[in-house]
Amino acid sequence: MESTVDTYHSNVDRRLAGAVERGQRVQILVDGCVETAFEGECVAVALLASGRRGLRVTARRGEPRGMYCAIGVCFECLMVVDDRQVRTCQTPVRDGMRIGDVAASTSDSAGTP
Ligand code: FES
Repeated sequence: MESTVDTYHSNVDRRLAGAVERGQRVQILVDGCVETAFEGECVAVALLASGRRGLRVTARRGEPRGMYCAIGVCFECLMVVDDRQVRTCQTPVRDGMRIGDVAASTSDSAGTP
């Protein structure tokens, strides 16, 4: 099932140029599309840097959600990573990770309306 999240994807790398020493370049698979990330980034930041602001939609209302607290408290960044629901702001990227929308795989376990 294809994700219903509006990704605002732009194919533009929004990372600061030259100002930050980054980890090794890795590739992640997001809703079937290959994206570039760097070791040391969390999944939510890697997606934000690739232009994706919406991470999931709520189960009941279909409303888009993105990174909000960025400290693991709100669960707004919940996504499915390698078949497990995780807070993407707390999950470091790994080469070959498969990432998708929660609504595309199961019901919304975060209980958000
Ligand atoms: S953005 Fe709040 S838990 Fe990830």
